[in-house]
This record gives sequence, C-alpha cells and structure tokens, in this order.
Amino acid sequence: MKLKTWFGVIAVALTVFAVQAQEMTDDAIKERIKPVGSVHVAGANADAQAAEGGGGTRSGEDVFGSACVACHGSGVLGAPKVHVAADWQPRVDKGFDTLMNHALNGFNAMPPRGTCGNCSDDEIKAAIEYMIEGI
Ligand code: HEC
Repeated sequence: MKLKTWFGVIAVALTVFAVQAQEMTDDAIKERIKPVGSVHVAGANADAQAAEGGGGTRSGEDVFGSACVACHGSGVLGAPKVHVAADWQPRVDKGFDTLMNHALNGFNAMPPRGTCGNCSDDEIKAAIEYMIEGI
C-alpha cells in the first residue's frame, strides 16, 4: 500500500515534470511567439496590399481626409480651405514646387508633412493636388 502510493507520487511528479519540460522547449516557446509575429506580418502585408490596391500610394483624397482635413477643411489657423480658389490661388501662383516644399518642410503654422509622418512625398503631393483640384 505504501509502495503503491509512492509509485503514484512518482508517476504524478514525472507527468508534471514532463509537461513542464515540454512547455520549456524552444519549440514550445517559438510556438507561443509565432502567432504574434504572424499577426504582425499579416497586418503589414495587408497594409502593403491595400496600398497596392490604391496604385502603390493612398489617393490624395484619402490622405487629405486623414491628415489635412483637420486644418484645411475649415481653415484652422488660417489654413487655405480645400477647393476654395480664393484661398489657394495666390499660393498656387507661387508655383507648385513652393507648395510642395512648404508642405514637406512646414511653413509658419503649417506643420511639416501636415503631421502625416507616414505619408510618402507622392502622397503629400497627391493631397495638395486634391486640395487645389478645379482651381
Ligand atoms: C495643424 C494644421 C494643419 C494641418 C494638419 C495641415 N496643414 Fe497645411 N497649412 C496649415 C496652415 C495654417 C497653412 C497656412 C500657412 C501660412 O500661409 O502661413 C497651411 C498651408 C499649406 C499649404 C500652402 C503652403 C504655401 O506655400 O502657401 C500646403 C500646400 C499645405 N498646407 C498642405 C498640407 C497637406 C498636404 C496637409 C496634409 C498632409 C496639410 N497641409 C495639413 C495648417 C495645416
């Protein structure tokens, strides 16, 4: 009886040890880390695919809607309002290169890249073109 109990204890101990040992293998650790990495990579791929769907870059309208509308929608801080010729014409007269330069590097209260840190130069350009469209 006493011996059987002892074997029982050893059996349980071995089982617990085996499970713990298994959990601590590299494979188990990799297996636990893997889903996080996969999700991250999948997200990056999805972003890349979304960007490709838009011709490699976000459209000017999209960039404007996410990064520029806060100020250029209603003229916050004196920002020229989207599609308002009277606001934009004197600026357009300076030449597109000047507008582009000011949009990328900042100009008075206009923050560099309109605060869009992940916008490419092409996306900033598209956003300006969208704002001055039809002027
Ligand atoms: C925090 C507010 C704010 C945001 C956000 C913002 N702008 Fe502006 N922007 C301004 C202001 C204010 C001016 C006018 C600056 C001046 O003339 O003194 C301006 C001016 C400009 C000009 C004209 C520059 C010139 O030479 O006359 C361009 C082009 C421009 N913004 C592009 C953008 C683009 C593109 C975005 C989004 C990616 C953006 N802005 C986001 C505030 C903002």
